[in-house]
Formats: sequence, C-alpha cells, structure tokens
Amino acid sequence: MTKSKRVAVLPGDGIGVDVLREAVRLLEAIDKKRPLSLDLWHLDLGADRYLRDKTTLPKETFEEVRDTCGAILLGALGDPRVPGLEHARDILFGFRFGLELYANVRTVKCLHDKLCPLKAKPASAVNFTVFRENTEGVYVGVGGQVRKGTPDEIAINEDINTRKGVERILRAAFDFAKEHGKTRVHMADKSNAMKHAHELWYRAFFELAKEYPGIEARHVYVDALCLYMIQEPENLQVIVTNNLFGDIVTDLGAALQGGLGMAPSGNINWARRGPALFEPVHGSAPPLAGKDLANPFASALTVGMMLDYLGYAGIESAIEDSVRDCVVAEECTRDVGGSLGTRASMDKLIARVSDRL
Ligand code: NAD
Ligand code: IPM
Ligand code: MN
Repeated sequence: MTKSKRVAVLPGDGIGVDVLREAVRLLEAIDKKRPLSLDLWHLDLGADRYLRDKTTLPKETFEEVRDTCGAILLGALGDPRVPGLEHARDILFGFRFGLELYANVRTVKCLHDKLCPLKAKPASAVNFTVFRENTEGVYVGVGGQVRKGTPDEIAINEDINTRKGVERILRAAFDFAKEHGKTRVHMADKSNAMKHAHELWYRAFFELAKEYPGIEARHVYVDALCLYMIQEPENLQVIVTNNLFGDIVTDLGAALQGGLGMAPSGNINWARRGPALFEPVHGSAPPLAGKDLANPFASALTVGMMLDYLGYAGIESAIEDSVRDCVVAEECTRDVGGSLGTRASMDKLIARVSDRL
C-alpha cells in the first residue's frame, strides 16, 4: 500500500515541544540528501490550546488526519497546568483508540555498552521489541467513583479484554517475529491472579502459537518478566502484553537503553497499516521543558521508525548508527553522558546522518 506523505506534527507539551522542533529539523536535513516530499501539517493541540479555548482533539481534525495522513509525529502530552490531564487523554487516546492503533510497538535496543546499566552485560544483550496492546485494558475508562470524598468511597477502573482485541495484538507479535526472523515470543500476564481476564490471554496465546510452528511461545508472569529483563535480557526477542503492563515494562526497558531519552515507539494498526502515530516513549518532563536539556535522540529514533513505516529504506539505520556515534563521541545531552544541549546534540546528529545518506 502506498502511504500518504502527509504527516501531522503534534509537539504537545513540555519537552514534547523541544524535541519535536529538533525532529522536524532532522526531517528537513534528511530531505536535503534524500528528497522525502513529506507534507508536514503542524497541529496546534496540547495544554496551551486547551487552556486558551478548551479545544482538545476536534472531530474534524481527527477525521482529516485519518483521511489524509500517513503518519502522526507526536512529542508528548502532559502539563501541570492541567492536573486532570483531560486534554492529554482526549488527544492521545483519541488517536490510539479512534484509529484503532492497537499495536504499540516499543523497540528496546541498547545502542552501546556505555548506555547499558547492567553489570557485566554488553549492549547487545538488550535487543527486543515490546508489543503493547493499545486499545483495551484499564485504559478504556469503564468504571466510576461512588461516594466520592467520603470514607466509604469506591473507585473502579474495569479491565476490558476482548477476544478480538487480545488475539489481534498476539497475532501482530507473532507476525512481527516471523517477518524479522525471531524465534521466540514471550507473553506476559498475571493469569495467576487475574483468572478471568488473563486466562483469556493465556488460552488465546497458546491457541495462536499453533499457527506459528517455527516460533517458540513462552508464557511469563509480568512480575517475573521484570526480573528477567534485568537478569537475562538476552533471552528476550519479542514480548507481547496488555496495555498497562506494556506501559510499565517499557519504562523499565527504557532504563536498559540508557533512559527515556533513547526510547522510540510506534502506534500502529498492524492489520490495516493505515495512518500510524509515532512518539518517543517519554513524557513531557515538565522540569526540563524549555531549558535545552531534553535528549532529542528518542525523537530522532522515532523519526527513523516513522520513515521506515512510510516506506523509505535505509534511513532508520542511518539515524540509529549516527545516534550511537554521537553517544560514543559524547556529542549528546547529559542524561546519556554528554554535556550538550538539545539543539547542539541534534546539530551533531544531523551532521552524522547527512554524511551517511
Ligand atoms: P517523563 O517521561 O516525562 O519523565 C520521567 C523521567 O525521565 C524524568 O526524570 C525526566 O526528566 C526523564 N526524561 C524523560 N524524557 C527525557 C528526555 N528526552 N531527555 C532527558 N530526560 C528525560 O514522565 P513523568 O515525569 O512521569 O510524566 C510527565 C508528564 O508526561 C505527565 O503529565 C505524564 O502523564 C506525561 N506523559 C506523557 C506521555 C506521552 O505523551 N506519550 C508519556 C509519558 C508520560
Ligand atoms: C505512554 C504514557 C501514556 C500511557 C500516558 C500519558 C497516558 O505513559 O505513552 O507511555 O500510559 O499510555
Ligand atoms: Mn508510559
């Protein structure tokens, strides 16, 4: 399928603005070496807009993105001036749920030994991909509060798991494994405690595994997965899990990559592969916002993922290799061992990527 070259650019809040400014500069620099012919459409959505006129994600904007864009490039959402985060949920979940981007694909790859926090493990030990279910679970918002503000208060968030929703993310993980020559998929749940919802995951996983005879299907409880991610990450290739667990284990995964400043992600409808949303795993990091401190490399790696998705070959690896070289040369921000600011780090990265293309 030929994808639209229109890309909605949504910086959002906090360091989302800082890092997307740099991501756009990277795209412009790439375009000079390899014409991408992308049509960038800048969306004024986020906390500022919400505080200005109460707009979160207008229906017509959502529909235009759905009908005309190949991808959305997002920074981050979350601002202390909107403590309830209602704008963030409307926008982020509006796209994730509305476009049925059920596969949140988070690459956990440590690019250099310097970045690996594990004693006696090389960077090569950390190289796996998490398939996080992205449209169900406790994120659906089914629930409520009763007797709010009283000692008898009750607060409920239901965990929604449908056969269709579970099966399609499991299938995406197996298909990805097959497409990428991987030999093992781990499915992480809490079926020992959550006997209704996660028994479904367990059963569906082993039923589906029969369709993928070349791939070893391993079940792991999510608490043990956290242990194995640290003790023996080299055994992990593809992990598939639910929405909440996937959110949590990918911040742990980011720590194995050198921090949140190094972790990219894509939100994809794996079956239709229509418009997809690409974003760094990190949030808006309010204490760093506007101070030229944020690491822009997670966004750069996210740009790589997006360009690969849009069908441009060879650019993702050029970005990844250049990020690695920048880290080795200490041409990077403080969180990954350098002393440069956001903008100067991207200048260095752009020079290296341009040389490679
Ligand atoms: P966060 O990811 O913003 O920050 C966690 C830690 O990582 C902080 O110490 C921060 O300084 C550091 N960090 C994150 N990104 C970095 C970068 N690029 N360079 C250097 N250091 C970086 O998570 P948080 O503090 O829990 O959340 C802040 C806000 O972001 C909240 O409103 C939260 O809801 C929101 N959030 C949004 C998204 C998203 O838009 N997809 C993701 C996560 C959190
Ligand atoms: C993420 C974030 C979001 C999530 C928040 C901001 C709702 O943590 O994208 O990882 O939990 O999905
Ligand atoms: Mn998260």
